Amino acid sequence: MAAPWPRRPRLVAGNWKMHRTSAEGSALAREFVLLRAADPAGGGCAVAVCPPYPALAAVGDALRGSGVYLGAQNMHAEPQGAFTGEVSGPMLASLGCRFVILGHSERRHGMGETDEQVAKKLRAALRDDLTPIVCVGELLAEREGGKTAEVLVRQVAAAYSGLSAEVARTTVVAYEPVWAIGTGKVATTEQARDAHRVIRSTLDQVLGSGSGGQIAILYGGSVNAGNAATLFAEADIDGALVGGASLEPASFWKIAAAAAAAG
Ligand code: PGA
Repeated sequence: MAAPWPRRPRLVAGNWKMHRTSAEGSALAREFVLLRAADPAGGGCAVAVCPPYPALAAVGDALRGSGVYLGAQNMHAEPQGAFTGEVSGPMLASLGCRFVILGHSERRHGMGETDEQVAKKLRAALRDDLTPIVCVGELLAEREGGKTAEVLVRQVAAAYSGLSAEVARTTVVAYEPVWAIGTGKVATTEQARDAHRVIRSTLDQVLGSGSGGQIAILYGGSVNAGNAATLFAEADIDGALVGGASLEPASFWKIAAAAAAAG
């Protein structure tokens, strides 16, 4: 089991999605490491980058010694076997991954990943000493239909039921409203705060009172250099999962600096 992941300092994780080859990823990571060395302002937060599988080794090499964590975007629940096209947790750990994103909406809604599969992957990531970033979030129609809380409760309960509070503290949750991902439409701080509170109270119910307050919850969905400081002013937001802006080193660095400045 990986060490517990604290709520502070905040975590800023970049989800590169299906962007950058191994060589391009390595160059991007090197640019980011140079920025970090030149301007240590963002050093007061934790930073991770999650490139596509083929770039993990090269990006890991480029990040070595920088203090920036490496993460993957998905994994299979089995450690090995006849699963053509899949990648397992031990394979990710052997490449130096600390994090793995699980249940991203592009997998839930684009590839039919179910709550049950996400729960299995969560247990597998814990078995493999990875720190899972468990993504939850509602579709636009669900928000407009007044179902946001219901969806979050269902997704969080499905993932965390049966885990101990101690084990759950080694995980991170990312609240990512699906309507805010890649759309430029960021949630208001009130919307994010309300959602984070629903997630925390669900964790309390599932894991025991007080547990939700110990688990880091990131916000994700159109976070950029311009809106990061406003989001991080909210104490309930323990960091960010950043897509598009994580592919631009200067923007990603500004988001990290905003997280560090917020304390
Ligand atoms: P975005 O993506 O920042 O491009 O909206 C966030 C995510 O999908 O994790």
